[in-house]
Formats: sequence, C-alpha cells, structure tokens
Amino acid sequence: MKTLILFSTRDGQTREIASYIASELKEQGVYADVVNLNRTEEIVWQDYDRVVIGASIRYGHFHPAVDRFVKKHAVTLNALPSAFYSVNLVARKPEKRTPQTNSYTRKFLLNSPWQPERCAVFAGALRYPRYRWYDLVMIRLIMKMTGGETDTSKEVVYTDWPQVAAFAREIAQLTGNQKV
Ligand SMILES: Cc1cc2nc3c(=O)[nH]c(=O)nc-3n(C[C@H](O)[C@H](O)[C@H](O)COP(=O)(O)O)c2cc1C
Repeated sequence: MKTLILFSTRDGQTREIASYIASELKEQGVYADVVNLNRTEEIVWQDYDRVVIGASIRYGHFHPAVDRFVKKHAVTLNALPSAFYSVNLVARKPEKRTPQTNSYTRKFLLNSPWQPERCAVFAGALRYPRYRWYDLVMIRLIMKMTGGETDTSKEVVYTDWPQVAAFAREIAQLTGNQKV
C-alpha cells in the first residue's frame, strides 16, 4: 500500500513541497505517488492507504479544481487517513501559518465536506522574474502593503523545510481516527 500525494500548483512550489514530503516519507519506509490533481483521470483508490492534498493560493483562492475534486471524492477522502496542506505567501509570517490563523485554510476547512486528520500551512515562494507583467505588478503591490520583498529581480523561497519534514512525520503516523 502507498500514500497518494495530490497537488494543485500554478508555479510549482506546491509540487516541490509534495515531492519533499514524498522523499521524507520514503526515509521512513512509506512509499508515495505524487500526482497532479488537475491531471488525475481515474484514481485506483484501492492502491492507497492514505491521502494528502496540497494546494496553493492565487488571488485569494485555491484552484476551483480542488473544490471540485474534494466534493467528488469526499466519501473516499473521509474514509482514508488524510492530510491537507495549503501554500501561500501570507504564511511567510509565522503567526499566519496555522490552519486557524491562515484565513484561506480556515475557510477551506470550514466549508469542506472532507475533514482531513492533519492540516498544515506552508509559506510559498515569490518568484518575480517568472511572473507575467500584470501578476508581477499586483504581487509587488501586495508585498509593498504587507512589508514584504519588493525587488522584482528576486526569487525568494519562504518555505520552512523543517516544518514540511515535521508534517511528513505526522503523515507517516496517521491512523485514521483523529480529526483536526
Ligand atoms: C498571481 C499570484 C497571485 C497570488 N495571490 C496570493 C494571495 O492572494 N495570497 C497569498 O497569500 N499568496 C498569493 N500568492 C502567492 C502564492 O500562493 C505563492 O507564490 C505560492 O508559492 C504559489 O504556489 P504554487 O507555485 O504551487 O502555485 C500569489 C502568487 C501569484 C503568482
């Protein structure tokens, strides 16, 4: 049996975190498939004994495919030991990095028919040189308003990798009977 790690990403950071979780799990003898949530056809759920979903925020929202997926598979997701992580830039501030204090994550959990047993919020990456003009202007404005990096030549990864590793250890311990 394996762990299924599904990710929804726009610029790749949520996929990088998924791969990192998979490599941490492997060190503990837990094998995982890392799959793009937007490219799943039919999932062979019988192959998996736990599931993790990771999704990033863009302009205040997760990708609509995340909600659709969760609604479609809610019964299966609730039946498996499961975990969720969200990735955003608000979470670069440690006080906004918990499921309760990160408004995107809190709202998601409040409205989701799936209730994961474990949940984490990770700070994402800021990669100015890769953004289209409009996105770059908007993100820079948000960064200016919130006291963040405004140098558009920079790429900054705020992800706290030891925090991700700790979450992977929690995933390895999932038993299927504790809810957040
Ligand atoms: C166009 C754009 C809009 C974003 N909007 C938000 C936002 O509303 N709130 C936030 O906290 N982070 C926001 N971010 C930051 C992303 O969540 C962060 O860059 C994350 O690492 C993206 O993950 P991904 O590469 O997996 O898509 C935005 C980033 C971009 C490029």
